Amino acid sequence: MSGWAVRVLLIEDEKEIAEFYKDALLEEREFAFQVKHAETLEKGLELLEKGPIDVVLSDLTLSDSRGIETFFRIHERHCRIPVVLLTGLSDGVIALEAVRRGAQDYLIKGEVDGKVLSRVLRYAIERQRIQEELRRQAQIIAQIHDAVICADLEGNITDWNGGAEKLFGYARAEVLGRHLSGLYPDHQRETVEHSVIPKLKEEGAKAFEVVMNRKWGEPFYAHLSLSLLKDEKGHPTGMAGYAVDISDRKRAEKSKDDFVGIVSHELRGPLSVIRESVSQVLDGLYGPVSERQAKTLRMNLGSIDRLGRIVDDLLDVAKLEAGEMNLRKGKTDLVSLVDDLAEHFSPQLERKGIEMKISASDPAVEIVADRDKLIQVFSNLIGNAIKFSDGRTISVSIRDGEGEVICSVSDTGRGIDKAELERVFEKFRRIPNETERREKGTGLGLAICKGIVDAHGGRIWAESRLNEGTKFIFSLPKTSADLPVTRGMG
Ligand SMILES: Nc1ncnc2c1ncn2[C@@H]1O[C@H](COP(=O)(O)OP(=O)(O)OP(=O)(O)O)[C@@H](O)[C@H]1O
Ligand SMILES: [Mg+2]
Repeated sequence: MSGWAVRVLLIEDEKEIAEFYKDALLEEREFAFQVKHAETLEKGLELLEKGPIDVVLSDLTLSDSRGIETFFRIHERHCRIPVVLLTGLSDGVIALEAVRRGAQDYLIKGEVDGKVLSRVLRYAIERQRIQEELRRQAQIIAQIHDAVICADLEGNITDWNGGAEKLFGYARAEVLGRHLSGLYPDHQRETVEHSVIPKLKEEGAKAFEVVMNRKWGEPFYAHLSLSLLKDEKGHPTGMAGYAVDISDRKRAEKSKDDFVGIVSHELRGPLSVIRESVSQVLDGLYGPVSERQAKTLRMNLGSIDRLGRIVDDLLDVAKLEAGEMNLRKGKTDLVSLVDDLAEHFSPQLERKGIEMKISASDPAVEIVADRDKLIQVFSNLIGNAIKFSDGRTISVSIRDGEGEVICSVSDTGRGIDKAELERVFEKFRRIPNETERREKGTGLGLAICKGIVDAHGGRIWAESRLNEGTKFIFSLPKTSADLPVTRGMG
């Protein structure tokens, strides 16, 4: 015997039967039992008040109470203590009803020995504990302010809390068994079913921002965190989602983006006037310029150009976010495009002692795309490798694949930390470190690259190992079809 004794309250008015059960429990070798005995329900309830009792074993038919009423009177005041009922052969139906209403089990008198009795009582305690725990967890979920939704692997809703009722406007009973797709606008369904759910099965958890629909059809932005539910062997059984309404944040972001768009647009005019006037003074149009003056003016021109590039980047971001980036597509050979860029970057490469290697699957790799925009993508990736990597080699690769072209720019530099790698495509994201403090940048380049590649119907991602290097890879479809421009970046 080990551990603490199980404290049993036995309510039984027939002395012999009571003695039998008491002896059976006390003789039990494997587990220790302490038995308190009451002959009436009244006395039993008194002992329960005094406590502590782990489990009640009670006859249904007592001198002061009969039938299911006996169970109710125990359970209403002590619902957390498991109750096992003792019944006669003819009370089976009543006992079953009691189990349905919260009793843990019932035993037919005369059909039990000490071993069975001991096991039934211990199981009753354990089951009660598990039920309490489940109830407690269900209560927590029900009371969470945000929406919690569970679904099976096919996407049929299996659970729906009060937060979900409030957020979506559907009562729990209305949605149980319905398919999740009813919560998305039609245009999002494809993404959710063919991209999000398979990814979730692969990775186990996924968080993203989506447009969802309320009951009355109103769309709203939600931040959705999904995780896979698994059985004890680790096999997926369903998914749990946690949704928060982020419409306010999205509205604020939009007005900030609109503001940035308008301001950048307004800056462009005066900036070109300033540039023109400085150039004219530098060219001596208004009289001779001393060497010192010329040096200052050239510095000014450099700053004006940099400001101009930032304004252009901000405008690009604003356009991409509004889905207004118009692509001027034409036949473009990516190999010659990169060759030209190598020429352009050669002074910088030389200055830093970096070697740039270009490899292509074919002498020319043609696609239908916006050449200027792809120059922007390659320029930023090559520019970043020169600025940040501290590596000695940059390799650009262009591969003609099936239906798409795969390009990459890799360096042999310091690499990017895994946590940062997931965020480098976000706007204004710059990794705080030594190199970066020396290097100028706004943190818009990669966000624009992603926007441009997305707008072409392609995909961009990065792979990196610390102190070994970073590889930025993007795919572009070869087809000329005008693909819808995706809204929102990073
Ligand atoms: N090849 C690389 N190696 C190491 N870090 C990199 C590399 N490329 C980008 N990064 C990091 O990612 C950040 C984001 O790059 P991004 O091109 O978006 O911005 P930026 O170059 O700083 O500014 P901008 O491109 O707007 O002038 C950089 O600030 C840098 O910290
Ligand atoms: Mg950059």
